[in-house]
Amino acid sequence: MTQKISAAITAIGGYVPNDKLTNFDLEKMVDTNDEWIRTRTGIEERRILKGEGKATSDMVVPAVQELLAKRGITAEDIDCLIVGTVTPDMVFPSTANIACDKLGAKNAWGFDLAAACSGFLYALTIGAALVESGRYKKVVVAGADKMSAIIDYTDRATCIIFGDGCGAVLLEPDEEGFGVKDSILRSDGSGGKYLHMKAGGSLKPASVETVTNKEHYAYQEGQAVFKFAVKGMADVSAELLERNNLTGEDIAWLVPHQANKRIIDATADRMGLSHDKVMLNIQRYGNTTAGTIPLCLWEWEKQLKKGDNIVLSAFGGGFTWGATLIKWAYNS
Ligand code: UT7
Repeated sequence: MTQKISAAITAIGGYVPNDKLTNFDLEKMVDTNDEWIRTRTGIEERRILKGEGKATSDMVVPAVQELLAKRGITAEDIDCLIVGTVTPDMVFPSTANIACDKLGAKNAWGFDLAAACSGFLYALTIGAALVESGRYKKVVVAGADKMSAIIDYTDRATCIIFGDGCGAVLLEPDEEGFGVKDSILRSDGSGGKYLHMKAGGSLKPASVETVTNKEHYAYQEGQAVFKFAVKGMADVSAELLERNNLTGEDIAWLVPHQANKRIIDATADRMGLSHDKVMLNIQRYGNTTAGTIPLCLWEWEKQLKKGDNIVLSAFGGGFTWGATLIKWAYNS
């Protein structure tokens, strides 16, 4: 019997801008303080993409270039690029199309996928299905957001949380059972009212009025989102373990979306996972939306071992949420 093709992550790249925005910088911009931000969120600083003409694709490109170099292949080898993002360079064409052009990925097709903080998990599931179909051999999945483009830096409820960054993985066929093993993805559009951007879409196109009313910024009712996120992320992660007959002890790493350390702790506790198995870089990058999970994998790559069971877990705008189980495919 031939082994089913699975989609293994075979290389990772990442990019965070050089410019830092610290809690102390924010103290000078809005009525907040370092202690409040650290204790309520776990964040100390975030990265901001600065410079005229710099957009989300400018973070996707170096992240993808890094993974290509690690794998020893060229941009022309890429079959498909999927970019999870809610801060595309433009409404259209897609950031994936723009990034492919900048990369010289002449043989690739691609598209953007908008699922906010769950964007990487959604895109990973789609990318894995393309590889599992046997039709595509090299699919790149990126999670990238330039959140600073849609944040109101006079609104202390949102500006303390978000940052910019991109992580990307290469998916290739595997016949030994490594790679993406299972995924549970959920959504509930009734949660949209708690986290959204009011204008700029077909519902409310940009106008002088929408700009004056600051409707092109991320709007969040933090407490409501927090409540759903704690339950959603913990429940789906526990369900994923259960349906794969695993317990916390079988898991080498939890890779949680980095929105709030308190949500991450609750998820780890629910999974029966000790906190030293939880990847955490929220203190340095804040919430990079679709970027958080691949940026963790990027930073922890050297510690990952072939055969490790890894759970990725996210919750975000939509609402969207989910968890994915991976059997890690290589030692680096
Ligand atoms: O990634 C996408 C999904 N997003 C999330 O998962 C985010 C989920 N939500 C959160 O992480 C938290 O709700 C926040 C970090 C956004 C806010 O933390 P919180 O503990 O829920 O604070 P709160 O909104 O309940 O506010 C508590 C107090 C309020 O003051 P009073 O009414 O108790 O006097 C706020 O006005 O803290 C005040 N406050 C602040 N104080 C200093 C709110 N923001 C700030 C601030 N600095 N930046």
